[in-house]
Amino acid sequence: MQAHKEYFRKAMRRHAGGVAIITTSNAGNHVGLTATAVCSLSMDPPKILACINLKGTTFHFLSESRVMTVNLLGRSQELLAREFGGMCAQSGEPFLNSDWETTPIGTHFLKGAVASIDCNVDEMFITRSHAVVFGDVVNVRIGPSDNQLMYFDGQFAPAKKELPEPIEHRFENKA
Ligand SMILES: Cc1cc2nc3c(=O)[nH]c(=O)nc-3n(C[C@H](O)[C@H](O)[C@H](O)COP(=O)(O)O)c2cc1C
Repeated sequence: MQAHKEYFRKAMRRHAGGVAIITTSNAGNHVGLTATAVCSLSMDPPKILACINLKGTTFHFLSESRVMTVNLLGRSQELLAREFGGMCAQSGEPFLNSDWETTPIGTHFLKGAVASIDCNVDEMFITRSHAVVFGDVVNVRIGPSDNQLMYFDGQFAPAKKELPEPIEHRFENKA
């Protein structure tokens, strides 16, 4: 099983993801996390989908507040992605290290994000580890025309590089 997980991880590392910081606020407290599991669900009506770990602070707040802002990051915002992604040993208070503004729904949007999307949480589908959160879009801000920050092969905005040899791993093999 461990080997299957490892090959699944290898496969998913080949799936480039745009990087977002999802923020929410409850009772005057602001939280947020870095996320790549975000996508557009429908245009009509405008809906977005995000997958959020049940164990984190952000989910705890979101389940109460039922509002979120999805901030799509530009390439210059990698440090923030690391801070909100729990990758910095002493990130302290990541909201202090950048420029945020309150949105009409009481969450925070990041100035300089390539776009930010405010949502009311419509439904949540709870799996064993994550909530699949469906948001009704209520406001959109289009920011500077920076390239979006990507996460691919375990790195942010990687330079083009040689990829390893192709692999085929069958799950029915006893590994
Ligand atoms: C590139 C990257 C992508 C991530 N994507 C997600 C994601 O889609 N959903 C999620 O729940 N956590 C994701 N994480 C992990 C969270 O950002 C991290 O666990 C964070 O510290 C959780 O914060 P919280 O406890 O305040 O919720 C990602 C982390 C990184 C670095």
